[in-house]
Amino acid sequence: MSRRGAFIVFEGCDGSGKTTNITRLVAELGARGYGVTPTREPGGTAIGEKIRSVLLDRKNLRMSMRCEALLYAASRAQLVEETIAPAIERGDVVICERYYYSSLAYQAWAGGLDPEFVRRLNEWATKDISPDLVILLDVDPKQSLGRKEGGFDRIEGRTLDYHKTVRDAYLGLAAAEPRRYRIIEGAEPIDIVWSHVWRYVQELLVGARGQG
Ligand code: TYD
Repeated sequence: MSRRGAFIVFEGCDGSGKTTNITRLVAELGARGYGVTPTREPGGTAIGEKIRSVLLDRKNLRMSMRCEALLYAASRAQLVEETIAPAIERGDVVICERYYYSSLAYQAWAGGLDPEFVRRLNEWATKDISPDLVILLDVDPKQSLGRKEGGFDRIEGRTLDYHKTVRDAYLGLAAAEPRRYRIIEGAEPIDIVWSHVWRYVQELLVGARGQG
C-alpha cells in the first residue's frame, strides 16, 4: 500500500490520559489545516462498537482469553478496512486510541497468550499496516486507575497485578522498537505531557513532509 498520510497510535494503561491528549491533538492539527481521522479501539466502526460492548460487558465473566484476543483482532480488522487504510490513502493524519500493542500487552503478556502468535494474528488482521509513531503514556496503574471516574469495565476490573504487567509489557515493547515508540511520563502535569506529545507529532509530520 502506498502511504500518503501518517498513522499515530496512543497506548498506555487505563486512565493514562490518552483521550485527553488525542482530543487536543485533533483540534491542534485541524486548526493547522491537516486532514485528521481520529478513531479508537475497540470500536470505531458500527461493527466494532458492537464487539466493544461484548468485550467490556461485566456480565461476560466467562469469556476465554482466546475469545477475547480474537474479538479485539476482529474489531481491529474492521477498523483498518473501513477507516484506517482509506484515511491513510487519502493523506490524512490518522490518530488511533490503542492498536494491536494493546493486545500484546493485555491479552499476551498480561493475559498469558503466546505473544508471537498474537502478533501474527494481528499483523494478519491489520494487513500489516503499522503506525509511524506510537506514543506511550506511561503511568503507574495504581495512579491511573484511580483517575477513572464511574465504574470499571470488565478489563479495568482486573487485579492491580494484571495492570502492572500490562505496564511492564508496554515498556518492553517500547524498548524493543525504539524508533517507533516515544515514551512520555504520564504522571506529569497535563501541559507538560501535551508539550511532549506535540513535539513528537511535529517531528514525525515535518520528517514525513521532508521525505515528500
Ligand atoms: P479503552 O477504550 O481504552 O477504555 P475506556 O474507553 O474505558 O478508557 O479500552 C477498553 C479496554 O479494552 C481497556 O481496558 C483495554 C482493553 N483492551 C485490551 O485488553 N486489548 C486490546 O487489544 C484493546 C484495544 C483494548
